[in-house]
Amino acid sequence: MKPSILVARAIFPEVIERLRQHFDVEDNPNDDAFSPAQLRERLKDKDGLFATMSERVDPQLLAACPRLKAVANMAVGYNNIDVDAATGAGVMVTNTPDVLNETTADFGWALLMAAARRITESEHWLRAGQWQKWRYDSFVGADLHGSTLGVIGMGRIGQAIARRSTGFGMQVIYHNRSRLAPELEAGANNARYVGREELLRQADHVVLVMPYSPALHHTIGEAEIALMKPTAILVNIARGGIVDDAALIRALRERRIAGAGLDVYENEPAFNPDFLSLSNVVLTPHIASASIATRLAMANCAADNLIAALTQQEPPNLLNPAVRAGA
Ligand code: GLV
Ligand code: GLV
Repeated sequence: MKPSILVARAIFPEVIERLRQHFDVEDNPNDDAFSPAQLRERLKDKDGLFATMSERVDPQLLAACPRLKAVANMAVGYNNIDVDAATGAGVMVTNTPDVLNETTADFGWALLMAAARRITESEHWLRAGQWQKWRYDSFVGADLHGSTLGVIGMGRIGQAIARRSTGFGMQVIYHNRSRLAPELEAGANNARYVGREELLRQADHVVLVMPYSPALHHTIGEAEIALMKPTAILVNIARGGIVDDAALIRALRERRIAGAGLDVYENEPAFNPDFLSLSNVVLTPHIASASIATRLAMANCAADNLIAALTQQEPPNLLNPAVRAGA
């Protein structure tokens, strides 16, 4: 008998077809939103879960699904999954690193440019028929070329962002849990390591790219924003919860920083509605990895992981190898 899996959200039909070659697949082509209780009910007799960021895998779900052996998350971040609890329950967990690095780095720059040059704000004005009111200082923004970019989180995506800075003639300073090797700093990444406070003070613009962990909750709050230049743009493509959104809203409203570009929020998709009343923030709905090619690569990567996990092979992106070792 084939192992059985649940694909929790709608995904590419060709990936469903691949999965059907290996598994009995219960999919969700209409993309119905499952409550936690509905997810438990659908998963309780399954061997595997193809998950997205919208499913929470917590001790309650794991307890209700004794057959479950593997959860493949179609995302590089996995703060929707309690990995320790999964390890305790003998459930393998995988993510989709690397395939999205360049696409996500592109998007970090898109948000930075859009916020610095006030692209969405001016488009709203144009669409509202206001162009007759043009004047010399309409939508004047900040230059990126020649400025200093601060990158917090110099993993693979952070490095891909830093590499793109050379064409703009920018300096890059970065902060990370650990320093890069000297040849990586000086080479293509064009980056200099500084302390976090120094970064916030010196950078003309700041991009956040670190993975979420509880220790980093609200790591950018009132005090950190106060260190930034009043002309600075803050870009968050990391995770909601890294920034104290209420503190950011106050700072944007009082123009203590010039603007922000945000792809992630606390409590998304139910984010703080006060953002909507601000003109100096560019808001996108967690789409940094959403190029056609990269989303397909992520779905296939998650499928590869699930197929390996449930056919006695080593999943390429196993996050809790202790489970495999004990299997
Ligand atoms: C997106 O945020 C991801 O973690 O892949
Ligand atoms: C950033 O991505 C890090 O590894 O800290």
